[in-house]
Amino acid sequence: MKFSSFGQKFTSQSGILQLMDDLGKAMSGNTNMRMLGGGNPGHIPEVQRIFRKRMEQILREGNRFEKLIGNYDPPQGDLAFIEALADLLRSTFGWDISSQNIALTLGSQSSFFILFNLFAGEFPDGSRKKILFPLAPEYIGYSDLGLSERFFIAQRPSIEHVDDHTFKYHVDFGALTLGDDIGAICVSRPTNPTGNVLTDEEVRHLMDLSATHQIPLIIDNAYGLPFPSIIFTGAEPVWNENTILCMSLSKLGLPGTRTGIVIASHEIIDAITGINAIFNLAGSGLGPQLTTELIKSGEIISLSQNVIKPYYKNRAEQAIDWLSQSLQGCDFHLHKAEGALFLWLWLRNFPITSETLYERLKARGVLVVSGHYFFPGMDEEWQHKHECIRITYSQDEETVREGLEIIGEEVKRAYDGF
Ligand SMILES: Cc1ncc(COP(=O)(O)O)c(C=O)c1O
Repeated sequence: MKFSSFGQKFTSQSGILQLMDDLGKAMSGNTNMRMLGGGNPGHIPEVQRIFRKRMEQILREGNRFEKLIGNYDPPQGDLAFIEALADLLRSTFGWDISSQNIALTLGSQSSFFILFNLFAGEFPDGSRKKILFPLAPEYIGYSDLGLSERFFIAQRPSIEHVDDHTFKYHVDFGALTLGDDIGAICVSRPTNPTGNVLTDEEVRHLMDLSATHQIPLIIDNAYGLPFPSIIFTGAEPVWNENTILCMSLSKLGLPGTRTGIVIASHEIIDAITGINAIFNLAGSGLGPQLTTELIKSGEIISLSQNVIKPYYKNRAEQAIDWLSQSLQGCDFHLHKAEGALFLWLWLRNFPITSETLYERLKARGVLVVSGHYFFPGMDEEWQHKHECIRITYSQDEETVREGLEIIGEEVKRAYDGF
């Protein structure tokens, strides 16, 4: 069978395909793999109880369940949810937002597909534009979303050594140049894979740059405020007409509902609504139905602050402790864990590549993700790309502890020349 260029592009081996394939198999329960590789949120009993209770209410209330499964939502998404969210963002952050500033998608992965292809690729006047990642490493899921080639461009970070074994990436504004070929700037904050949180000053600087160049700044807030709040530093959430803030219900504990949220100007929301209608007809009502009451009451914020955030913060601290012990004596550096679900481990002057380490760990029943996948748009060779791995700490403690011990053993073996 012959596939079109579209078919060939989206069926060739991609980083996200390998990751989701490994993740799916490990989560299916049919293998003994320790899954330290995916972005699956932890199953937090207190959070899951709330969603179970909400589902039971829906099942009890008249024909609510039948309406949920039996009706299409409008292409902008569930309007009660959108209105409740607009109220929450207005009252919490003082943003000038109405329901016309919000559209829902089938997960933020789908939001990024739409947004990236709205602002980059070929334009009617024949010009071509790219999405700029001002700080790589960046989220692996962006890598294959462009409908045309040479779609992304990424900038190396500067590296601050916080202490002997901790570092933090910063945007290297001195080296950042924005030509006419940049259609939008995009950052994840907190960043997947590193757990970095761009400082307020860095974000303000990026907002100024995007305003000057009259291009949008896309902020991927999948782990940020006001929910799920997996952010351990003080960081001010921002939005204005030139900013596109993307959120998701996934890391709140609802990845199965596929609910992405885009907060943007009316023009962009109209565009997303139109594209939703063509691609999907409608959004999924399940995520909104499970969360609208929590948003209306504000409980979604207290749940995020008092349950979800401490859960991940404790897990991060514990994982850093275990990993630091298992890597004692090695030239290892961990990115400062400021949010999200990951540790980003840099093995300086590592004698084997992170790809080889990935294979060795997989053979020992531990799945991580090799760092080299997280540089979409950066073609230049840089040894650093092959000296890092991403480790997820959201799974159960036993799995994480065992996995980190094995990582320590394999890293030491490699530094010893084997
Ligand atoms: C930074 C980031 N953005 C977006 C996504 C996609 O999330 P969703 O489940 O909403 O598609 C993820 C998922 O891991 C992520 O880590």
